[in-house]
Amino acid sequence: MNDTVSEAELAAGRGYERLFVPALFGPWTKHVIAAADIQKGSRVLDIACGTGILARDARSAIGETGRVTGLDPAPGMIATAQEIAPDMEWVRGSAEDLEFEDATFDRVLCQFGMMFFQHPQKAVKEMYRVMAPGGRLAVAVWNSIVNNPAYEDIIDVLDEQVGIAAGDALRLPFSMGDASEVTKLLDNSGFSDIAADTRTEQANFPSARAMVEAELRGWLPLFDINLDEEEIAEVLTRSDILLAKYATPSGEAVFPTSAHVVTASKR
Ligand SMILES: C[S@@+](CC[C@H](N)C(=O)[O-])C[C@H]1O[C@@H](n2cnc3c(N)ncnc32)[C@H](O)[C@@H]1O
Repeated sequence: MNDTVSEAELAAGRGYERLFVPALFGPWTKHVIAAADIQKGSRVLDIACGTGILARDARSAIGETGRVTGLDPAPGMIATAQEIAPDMEWVRGSAEDLEFEDATFDRVLCQFGMMFFQHPQKAVKEMYRVMAPGGRLAVAVWNSIVNNPAYEDIIDVLDEQVGIAAGDALRLPFSMGDASEVTKLLDNSGFSDIAADTRTEQANFPSARAMVEAELRGWLPLFDINLDEEEIAEVLTRSDILLAKYATPSGEAVFPTSAHVVTASKR
């Protein structure tokens, strides 16, 4: 893969880090790190690392002697990860075709990335290949949309006011809500001791508007759905009413999110 990154891609990566990471993804890293049982000195691979929040938190857990590598195909994500932590190893590449030698990592992590893979089974086989015997895997996937009602509310507004394609773009992250889908992929690839643990974590956006705007301006454009300012204003007016129930007295939007943390090991 070449290393060029456009201004638009970089802006998307920085936007993801600013809008989504502190509010939604950052709070989950402690669950994935604990599930992976990361040790001092572990060699860790974070697949679909995005802007690198999980890899950075894993680095704090491994001490001086370990090594953490983050991998993602999106140029703007990797460029932002590099910008935030230039001393870490960031690799542009796809989960389905890892450039690493066999048995190179003690821990393989993947937080909220698997539902976007073109070939999840191929990716899981690659995870198994690059893992050293005795290694451990931790994968987080969102629970189904009915178990993430704040997003169900936004999807209703998108379906109604923008169209089904916009609703579908926001359904995709919740498409592996049946944990058995993930455990089956792991089982087919040779992993053992497979277990799924369903957990809840609070999301905390500066406001309900900020939450919906992050989706409208940061997520939908990735699916070539670009709303004009008038359409954005209409969606925000409607979602203000629906999402008022999540507002705290100081105006933040706080709500529970649910995900499966699936673990497995390689004998
Ligand atoms: C919702 S983000 C999660 C990022 C990060 N793990 C986090 O928790 O903030 C999903 C990531 O999956 C990445 N992704 C999509 N397809 C991929 C693939 N085939 N291989 C690896 N990563 C992929 C995207 O580029 C994106 O950065």
